[in-house]
Amino acid sequence: MDLEKVAELQKIIDDSDNIVFFGGAGVSTESGIPDFRSQDGLYNLKYAYPPEEIISHSFFEANPKEFYRFYKDKMLVPDAQPNAAHLKLAELEAAGKVKAVVTQNIDGLHQKAGSKAVYELHGSTLRNYCTRCGTYYDAKFIQDSEGVPVCPKCGGIIKPDVVLYEEGLDSRTIRRSIEAIEDADVLIIGGTSLVVYPAAGLIDYFHGRKLVLINKGAVGRETRADLVITDPIGEVFSQIKVR
Ligand code: OAD
Repeated sequence: MDLEKVAELQKIIDDSDNIVFFGGAGVSTESGIPDFRSQDGLYNLKYAYPPEEIISHSFFEANPKEFYRFYKDKMLVPDAQPNAAHLKLAELEAAGKVKAVVTQNIDGLHQKAGSKAVYELHGSTLRNYCTRCGTYYDAKFIQDSEGVPVCPKCGGIIKPDVVLYEEGLDSRTIRRSIEAIEDADVLIIGGTSLVVYPAAGLIDYFHGRKLVLINKGAVGRETRADLVITDPIGEVFSQIKVR
């Protein structure tokens, strides 16, 4: 690990009480959840259809059975636990330093770690709603269902509250994310390839003092980061002290 860079990150964190974290799937790989675009990521696995197609709105409508086969197998991770990155971000929030976590992840691990201000741009697997009557169901209900989960009340198909391809993002979540990023003094971007829009475009709203990028691989766009760290994000955050 590049300890000099971690020391630089520590100083940036020490000097700010208005940090926003913007993250993606790479934040949860150290919790055992595969990301999308790494070599061993979801998009490089072999399925009858490309995963990008399976997790699209039209595929869900046309072929819910195949959608749920993939979704339950690969996207529901009920036993995953927060890693040092999730935990340290929650601690930094409790200490008044981190103001918000904006995440593309749908695993709920930031909340499980204790973070309160979490803006989930792509929704959450922990919330599911009947497409007919709107009744809420938790992830366990989906996990325990046979095949396509169906609402016991009305017989409608249940859909995860996850933003599928072809679907729009929740406007309130976007608005709050933009406000937090616009107001931030420090933006830490981590574990995201920055190739999926509109999420990746939100970092353009940052006009603060220091921008940090913690990502193992290359990212898909210019960030003009002041500090770039390529070590695993959980290991990096495990070195950070909250003071
Ligand atoms: P990606 O899989 O595109 O990118 C994850 C990034 O994290 C890669 O650049 C990895 O190099 C890096 N990475 C992996 N493990 C890491 C670690 N331990 N420490 C540091 N970096 C690490 O995932 P996202 O950018 O989140 O959307 O993908 C964006 C969206 O594409 C997802 O939200 C999802 C997907 O389609 C939807 O499902 C709507």
